[in-house]
Amino acid sequence: MFGLKPSRPVVGLDIGSHGIKVVELDVRRKGGRDAFSVAHIGYQALPHDAIVEGQVIDAAAVAEAIRTVFDKAKIAGRDVVVSISGNSVIIKKISLPAMETEELAESIIWEAKHNIPYPYEETNVDYAVLKPRPGAGEGMEILLVAVKKDKVAAFANLVGQARKNLAAIEVDAFALFNAFEINYPEEFAEKTVALINMGANVTTIVISDHGAPQLFRDLSFGGSAFVENLRKDLGIGLVEAENLLRGLPSRSVEPFQVDAVLSLNTRSLIDEIDKTFTFYQAEDKREGRIEQILLSGGLSNLRTITASFEQKFGAKTTLFDPFRRVHYNEKRLSSEFYQEMAPFFGVAVGLATRPREK
Ligand SMILES: Nc1ncnc2c1ncn2[C@@H]1O[C@H](COP(=O)(O)OP(=O)(O)OP(=O)(O)O)[C@@H](O)[C@H]1O
Ligand SMILES: [Mg+2]
Repeated sequence: MFGLKPSRPVVGLDIGSHGIKVVELDVRRKGGRDAFSVAHIGYQALPHDAIVEGQVIDAAAVAEAIRTVFDKAKIAGRDVVVSISGNSVIIKKISLPAMETEELAESIIWEAKHNIPYPYEETNVDYAVLKPRPGAGEGMEILLVAVKKDKVAAFANLVGQARKNLAAIEVDAFALFNAFEINYPEEFAEKTVALINMGANVTTIVISDHGAPQLFRDLSFGGSAFVENLRKDLGIGLVEAENLLRGLPSRSVEPFQVDAVLSLNTRSLIDEIDKTFTFYQAEDKREGRIEQILLSGGLSNLRTITASFEQKFGAKTTLFDPFRRVHYNEKRLSSEFYQEMAPFFGVAVGLATRPREK
C-alpha cells in the first residue's frame, strides 16, 4: 500500500507484539508467474513489555530483537516491508460513480474525511481501485486505507534503529490476502473464504469472495487475553499461563481447569468473529456463504480451535499454510519452522511476496 513498489526482493518483517517473524524469499519467473522459495527465515520472541497493546514501549529492545533475528537467520537483504495492524488501521470499502483519476483523488480525500474516525491530518491515506466484478454496474469499488501517522512513524523508527531500509509499509490484512492468493490459487478464485490471523493482541479477519476482497477487520483480541485470563482465573504467573496456553503440563493446576478457561475464551473470540461474519452477510443481503476458514497466527496452534470454528460456522476449517506454494527446502532450512512455526508466518510471507515493479 504505502510506499513505492520495490523493484528488488524485499524482506518480510512482521513485528508482532509477541514475536518478530522475518522471511526472505528467492523469486524466479516461471511460466509467466513468480515462483517463490524461502531463502532465509527467523523468529525472535520479544520481551512481553516491549510492545503493549500495539504501542511500542521499548523501541531499543525491539530494534535489538530485529538485528538479532536478521543475524541468526543470516538475512543479507536490508530492504524490509513491515506491516501495521490493530486500531491504528482503518480499511473501508466504498462505492463511487465512475470518474477520472484527478476527480477520484479529490473524492478520496472527501471520503477519507467522512469515513475515518481520526482527524484526516493525523493519518496517511491510500486507496486501491478494485477489479470490477462481473455483472457489477458502472461504478467503482474502492478500498480506502488509513493508518495513523504516529504508528507509521514508530515503525519507521524501529526499522531505522535496526539499521534496515524501509521499502514500504503494508497492513497485516493485505499481507494475509497476498499470501492467500499465492498459496491457495484455486480457493482464491473459486470460493468465499475467511482468513483469520489470531495473534497476541490483534485478530485480523479477511473475507475473500472469488478473488475479490470483501471485508478487512482487526479485532483487539488475541492470545494475550487468553494468557491474562488464565493468570487471573487460576491464580498463576505469566510464564505458567503462557505455557498452559501452549499445551505444556503444569503441576499446580488440573487440566480440566485449564480447559474450562480456554474454552470460555475461545467462545468469546469466536462470538466476536461471528459478529463480523454477520455484518458481512447482512451488507447488501449477500447470499455468499463462507465456505472455508483458514486460521493462522500463534493462537491458531491451540489444540481445539479448528474444531471450535467448524462447529460454530459449519465451514471447513484448516490451518493456513504460507508455504503451500512457496518452496521450503527442509534439508537446508530448519524443519521446525516448517512444521511448527508455519502458522506464525502468514503475514511475513505475504509481505515478502508483495507485488513488485515488473
Ligand atoms: N502453541 C501455542 N498454542 C496456543 N497459543 C500460542 C502457542 N504459541 C504461541 N501462542 C500464542 O500466540 C500469540 C502469538 O502469536 P503471533 O506471533 O501470531 O502474535 P504477534 O504477531 O506477535 O501479535 P500481534 O500481531 O497481535 O501483535 C501469543 O499470544 C502466544 O501466547
Ligand atoms: Mg501478528
